[in-house]
Amino acid sequence: MFRIQEDLLLATTLLCFVCAKEVTDLDVLSSKPSRCTYEYAYDMYGAHCGGLRLTKIPSLRSGIEILDFSDNKLQELHADTFYGYSSIKYLYLAENQIYLIEENALSYLTSLQTLDLSNNVILELPDSLFQLPSLRKLYLNGNPLLHLSLSNLQITKPIKAPLELLDISENKLKVLPDWGILPQLLLYNISHNPLTSLEAQHFVSMCRLQKVDLTESINKVTLCNIKLTVTWFQEKHIYFQLGDYSRLNSREFDNCPRLEISADLNSTYQRCDSVYTKLKNVRGSRSTWLTIGGGLAGFLVGFVLLLYIMHRHNVAQTKRAANKALKKTLPTTVGDIPPTVGLLNNVS
Ligand SMILES: *[C@@H]1O[C@H](CO)[C@@H](O)[C@H](O)[C@H]1NC(C)=O
Ligand SMILES: *[C@@H]1O[C@H](CO)[C@@H](O)[C@H](O)[C@H]1NC(C)=O
Repeated sequence: MFRIQEDLLLATTLLCFVCAKEVTDLDVLSSKPSRCTYEYAYDMYGAHCGGLRLTKIPSLRSGIEILDFSDNKLQELHADTFYGYSSIKYLYLAENQIYLIEENALSYLTSLQTLDLSNNVILELPDSLFQLPSLRKLYLNGNPLLHLSLSNLQITKPIKAPLELLDISENKLKVLPDWGILPQLLLYNISHNPLTSLEAQHFVSMCRLQKVDLTESINKVTLCNIKLTVTWFQEKHIYFQLGDYSRLNSREFDNCPRLEISADLNSTYQRCDSVYTKLKNVRGSRSTWLTIGGGLAGFLVGFVLLLYIMHRHNVAQTKRAANKALKKTLPTTVGDIPPTVGLLNNVS
């Protein structure tokens, strides 16, 4: 009898433990948002929809500048997916299941500066992506199927997007794609790709390049094939990152024939450089015009304000003068009153 009671007690304790645990799990589940939330971050209005297992982008508030839609189940980007969201500057679509990006899916995103498409299964990139007028940072890393189309990439060149960062690491690339001239590129991440060659020609059309990440990407490239590129990096003070520098410190590498930088490489570099200078001048003159325009507008506003103040002043003065004139005439009327009062007094 006593024993049974003891067992019962144990069972209820266990049950209660389980139920308590279930309650806390449920609590956790219910406290986790199931819809996109909105907040201001870095002075920008953003929608956060990360990790909600969504298969499509829900209707969002207009005017958002940040959209975090990472870690969901999005598969296709259609022409109307981002219609009406031209204010988005930062778009995070990492860790979805995107395989299809329709040709015009991104062309509405004219303000877009950063696009993260990493860790998806993208098959092919649309031309419109490379023509986005404000796109500076593009993450395409971790797309294991992208190498199928990227090696012989068909896009309009020169690329209009002012790319400063391009990440194509972990993409199973054997051959690097031909981007054409990328005059503003600063950081190029091509790490973790089984490259079979590394041509200097590929890098001379990136005339502002500061850093290339080559970690785990040139293990299969024959050593002497790297020599000219390394010479180029050294000549232009481009920092290149490798997981292991021992191959470059070997006697074998030292014994590779030292190749001269050809006139061809120099001229491609010069071409990139002149495109960059032209871009900078356009930007410079645009800002000059903006300054002049802004100054002129400011002057006009000031002038109109001045006119208004003068007008108000004149009106006030006229009023004062009128009041004075009125005051001058008033005493005569007032003076007429006492007799009447007297008269009234007389009457009484
Ligand atoms: C390049 O990409 C790899 C893998 O995606 C990453 O670990 C590394 O930090 C990146 N390198 C730079 C310089 O950002
Ligand atoms: C290419 O330019 C470098 C300096 O940037 C110069 O040393 C080299 O002689 C040039 N090569 C040719 C073939 O003009």
